[in-house]
Amino acid sequence: MNKKIKNICCLGAGYVGGPTMAVIAFKCSHIIVNVVDTNQQRVDAWNANDLNKLPIFEPGLDKIIAETRNKNLFFSTKIEKNISNADIIFISVNTPTKTKGLGAGKASDLKWIELCARQVAKFAIGHTIVIEKSTLPVRTAEVIKQILNESQSKYSVDKEKKTFDILSNPEFLAEGSAIQDLLNPDRVLIGGDNKKAIDSLSEIYENWIVKEKILHTNLWSSELAKLTANAFLAQRISSINTISVLCEKTGANVKQVSKAIGLDHRIGNKFLDAGPGFGGSCFQKDLLNLVYLSESLGLNEVAEYWNQVIEINNWQRKRISKLIIEKLFGTVGGKKIGILGFSFKANTNDTRESSAIQISRDLLEEGAFLIIHDPKVNIKDIEYYLGPNQKRDMQIDSETKGYGCWSFTDNLEKIYQDSDALVVITEWSKYSQIKWDIASKNMRRPGWVFDTRGIINIDEVKKNGLKIWVVGNGEL
Ligand code: NAD
Ligand code: UGA
Repeated sequence: MNKKIKNICCLGAGYVGGPTMAVIAFKCSHIIVNVVDTNQQRVDAWNANDLNKLPIFEPGLDKIIAETRNKNLFFSTKIEKNISNADIIFISVNTPTKTKGLGAGKASDLKWIELCARQVAKFAIGHTIVIEKSTLPVRTAEVIKQILNESQSKYSVDKEKKTFDILSNPEFLAEGSAIQDLLNPDRVLIGGDNKKAIDSLSEIYENWIVKEKILHTNLWSSELAKLTANAFLAQRISSINTISVLCEKTGANVKQVSKAIGLDHRIGNKFLDAGPGFGGSCFQKDLLNLVYLSESLGLNEVAEYWNQVIEINNWQRKRISKLIIEKLFGTVGGKKIGILGFSFKANTNDTRESSAIQISRDLLEEGAFLIIHDPKVNIKDIEYYLGPNQKRDMQIDSETKGYGCWSFTDNLEKIYQDSDALVVITEWSKYSQIKWDIASKNMRRPGWVFDTRGIINIDEVKKNGLKIWVVGNGEL
């Protein structure tokens, strides 16, 4: 008989841990779900009475939290107690790219994973199933296994021998559609070598997902499949972005090309939107992981192949910054440029690796005065990437330092006043509804619109006397 799960603990209340556990609690009212984190502030935000203050914005998340929180879903910093009580533990902590030491710039930093494994080893009681939910380099389960197994001799009290099973259960949700992705996933992947443990985890998902969608593989296939899925998705974006510039140079239109190729069911129509380059915390990190793995195995051609996906992404961002500067007569010093959108995609407040960061930095470097708008991003996150929010006089600033400055507004109309250009970086739906007559009246001339997402009504912009450049379409 496989173990019946009554109590879950999830280490990490982030973009994955929070929504994933909320959906499990929502669909499994018979299971107690404890989400724990070392970050007290984040836990407090998850417990906020005002659901607009949850630490992450995801459509539909607030309703699920309202249904489950403090019934069978709990957020806290009580790590030891909740590890001890758990039948199953999800590890869902951050695994960013290493910034120093061996493998810096490529390998994932596994210090948080290792710490979790050590905490589980110390505080778990009896038999515990440990799940890798974080995205991890292939064969990380081996490391976790070793730490847990070594702990048996150190921490087990004679009669109460600790035992563990380790499974890989990577998450495929995308931010902005996380709740829908969790409620109705294309597949759930479970990698492991112990059938009873696999069945215990499958049973949780079977509360709302048909068995046919729950795939069982060995541990290493599961770990590698997660990296491969992200690499393939990122590769499609870099591919279409290379085509976007060919379109701009030849008079083709990238939307028409995407449609024409996407109707071929072997290619499919998803992930064919040209843009300012992919952002988000995972695509680049997971590609780098694949590059590092290939290099460590001496497979330099394979490493170079995947590295090129990242190179093209960086190139797309740079070419957009360069193009903006060129169109504004080769200088943006002291010019006011509106940045529309700072999150890495619409419907999320996440700014990690957003293309807005690089493009903004390039324009600041050239002395521009940026006024940034985003419906959900917190100004502190922008400060983290661009330095302090400077409300100085742009004239003085550009004269004294030559380096630009930025400010933030949540009032879209403020962004138009005296702007030389507006740059659409995130595809928030409100940007496709901009009233171009109002914007145009307030902008300086010649006023430019740079649409890196292809969401703006071109005719309306032109009708109101502004110039427009659209990714994969060029100057129109
Ligand atoms: P995140 O940074 O939003 O959240 C991680 C949380 O873990 C943080 O709140 C941190 O304080 C906490 N933490 C760190 N060490 C801890 C410990 N020892 N005990 C308890 N809590 C601890 O990260 P995320 O975006 O949720 O990503 C988590 C993992 O999931 C990563 O490996 C990522 O690659 C993967 N992933 C992310 C997404 C996504 O859309 N963000 C999707 C699929 C997979
Ligand atoms: C991505 C994957 O889609 C998820 O399956 C995966 O679980 C997750 O990474 C992860 O492992 O973290 P996410 O990064 O949240 O999800 O968002 P995506 O929708 O994949 O978008 C990533 C980036 O690509 C965004 O900047 C987006 O604007 C860009 N993109 C996406 C394009 O430029 N064009 C497209 O056609 C699609």
